[in-house]
Amino acid sequence: MIETPQNPDRAPAGVVIDGLHKAYGENEVLKGIDMRVEPGEVVCLIGASGSGKSTLLRCVNRLEDPNRGMITVGGHEATHPDVNLDAMRREIGMVFQQFNLFPHLSMLENCTITPRRVLKQSRSAAEQEAMAQLKRVGLEEFAQRRPEQLSGGQQQRVAIARALTMRPKLMLFDEPTSALDPETVGDVLAIMRDLAQGGMTMLVVTHEMGFAREVADRVVFMDRGRVVEEGPAAQVISEPQQPRTQDFLRRVLNPTHVDLED
Ligand SMILES: Nc1ncnc2c1ncn2[C@@H]1O[C@H](COP(=O)(O)OP(=O)(O)O)[C@@H](O)[C@H]1O
Ligand SMILES: [Mg+2]
Repeated sequence: MIETPQNPDRAPAGVVIDGLHKAYGENEVLKGIDMRVEPGEVVCLIGASGSGKSTLLRCVNRLEDPNRGMITVGGHEATHPDVNLDAMRREIGMVFQQFNLFPHLSMLENCTITPRRVLKQSRSAAEQEAMAQLKRVGLEEFAQRRPEQLSGGQQQRVAIARALTMRPKLMLFDEPTSALDPETVGDVLAIMRDLAQGGMTMLVVTHEMGFAREVADRVVFMDRGRVVEEGPAAQVISEPQQPRTQDFLRRVLNPTHVDLED
């Protein structure tokens, strides 16, 4: 199990999103999102492409500026005009579909560069922590290799280790397994499950319904910039109430099914 540090100022953070609006020009992508993630809770965010899932995650760590609404992370207002963005982002780990590792750096260097630059850790302290995180994701023997020498799944595990070296209070995952070869997906999901069981707060955009059903406390279905349905994972996935959720899940769970009424 990947344990969340018990140090109280590293305790998992909750997220509160209140009336969030975001537009790109005329295109209103988030149309008033209200959502909560309790400390230590795992919420899976599902929905069709273009429904605003990535934009929502990017607003939480302020890679995007919302037009309206409030977000708090660990009780601190992320949308406050005077927020210390660097300090806030240090506490939020993000894992992307494309792992975004530095191609010219070893795995170890990928995992030490931010702690050294941002947290001002010594080389030896940063390397010790990085090796511990690489070990947690089962890749300590790959520490000296470069990204191109690893499979996609291995690179994604390093990307998770890299995020964990910052000791985040919240982890955001944006389709972390969508770009992977099918045989490497399970290893990445297993690490995410361990992280969840260790008490990390996680907001995960994913199409992996098996993972969502097993690991998520709640599932939130978004469609065209709105939350359409949310509830306990098993309930939303197995007994969706809203027609749009039913339609989406039918497509995701039976991708080869041809609906003759379409
Ligand atoms: N940087 C951007 N500039 C303009 N439009 C964007 C930008 N990012 C996303 N969009 C638009 O916002 C909508 C939602 O995108 P996104 O949040 O990526 O959805 P999802 O992650 O659910 O597929 C899409 O119509 C997309 O084209
Ligand atoms: Mg997306």
